[in-house]
Amino acid sequence: MATAGKVIKCKAAVSWEPNKPLVIEEIEVAPPQVNEVRIKIVAAAVCRSDLYQLLEAMPKDDFPTILGHEAAGIVESVGPGVTEFQPGDKVIPVFLSQCRECRFCKSPKTNQCEKSWFNVQHDGSESRFTCKGKKLLPFIGTSTFSEYTVVNQIAVAKIDPAAPLDKVCLLGCGICTGYGAAVNTAKVEPGSTCAVFGLGAVGLAAVMGCKAAGAKKIIAVDINPEKFEKAKVFGATDFVNPKDHDKPISQVLAEMTNGGVDYSLECTGNVGVMRSALESCIQAWGVSVIVGWTELHDVATRPVQLVKGRTWKGSHFGGFKSKDGVSEMVKAYLDKKVKVDEFITHNMTLDQINDAIELMKHSKW
Ligand SMILES: NC(=O)c1ccc[n+]([C@@H]2O[C@H](COP(=O)([O-])OP(=O)(O)OC[C@H]3O[C@@H](n4cnc5c(N)ncnc54)[C@H](O)[C@@H]3O)[C@@H](O)[C@H]2O)c1
Ligand SMILES: [Zn+2]
Ligand SMILES: [Zn+2]
Repeated sequence: MATAGKVIKCKAAVSWEPNKPLVIEEIEVAPPQVNEVRIKIVAAAVCRSDLYQLLEAMPKDDFPTILGHEAAGIVESVGPGVTEFQPGDKVIPVFLSQCRECRFCKSPKTNQCEKSWFNVQHDGSESRFTCKGKKLLPFIGTSTFSEYTVVNQIAVAKIDPAAPLDKVCLLGCGICTGYGAAVNTAKVEPGSTCAVFGLGAVGLAAVMGCKAAGAKKIIAVDINPEKFEKAKVFGATDFVNPKDHDKPISQVLAEMTNGGVDYSLECTGNVGVMRSALESCIQAWGVSVIVGWTELHDVATRPVQLVKGRTWKGSHFGGFKSKDGVSEMVKAYLDKKVKVDEFITHNMTLDQINDAIELMKHSKW
């Protein structure tokens, strides 16, 4: 492409400081370096984890930055050493890498990768973004709230050229995370009873995963009852709003299910809900999966909950080996085996990103 090897000027939503609206700026994106891919982002979505970083968790030193990690685009150019990608390829950046070489990548037991952004020290030298003469720090290796981004090839999934990018961008995080948490991590069995706590994109995808795995009863739990109608579309059979009850939600679920659910999936990021989800499981074999993200609080339960046979697990990116999993999920969408379109409530431009964030803050999508 004509832009290969050159600096690209484009628009991006810059986070100058924590807890402040993003600012649409003109930025410069440097050419990709060794093992890197420069991607023209065609569509991006907002995930709760972006907000969590912006509003709660991210150290001041990690700003200014460009957030965003759920997107799809087209390869514009590649750096030296890149053989897997060519300009024009349709791709999805992934925040969890898959180097295929480390001991975790080589093991079928995990989707963690030793070279993932989270596992490696960063000093800012990986930044390919500048704005008004200042370096912008990359965010979990993806920084997708930009018209162009640069990503290491171990964190890019090549997808079917037939895939509509404005839809499959959602497979870059939320849908794979929730769906995989049910199918890969909980390993929901046919005929089982499940509960999903929190019905954002992640929770709705978990409902879809439970249904695909053959669950016969799927209880959708949310404090926002407006979410129940959507949950039904993905396969939820029962609906519980904790605000309608004056007893612990675990007791409500135990009464509905003769002692507790076989599988529960926590998709809120709230440690109180994580505990409720575990304690809603039946003793003896109940499995509860933590999907929600927080690094700020401890999670607690009485040991006897586990001693009696419950299992407590966590799931990162739905347990999918990221590059392989994203490509497979895009294929499953094209084959009409998983839903994606139904997750989309608003289509907005990059200029409207703060409106999108407000909608998410108030659970209005
Ligand atoms: N493990 C991973 O790899 C991974 C990946 C992506 C996102 N996440 C995390 O998953 C969580 C969900 O993400 P999302 O984008 O779907 O978020 P979201 O904000 O769209 O949805 C959260 C839902 O939880 C509901 N909720 C809040 N408090 C509740 C309570 N006490 N009881 C029941 N429901 C409650 C909200 O009403 C909302 O519908 C976040 O914590 C996010 O950071 C984890
Ligand atoms: Zn996410
Ligand atoms: Zn690896």
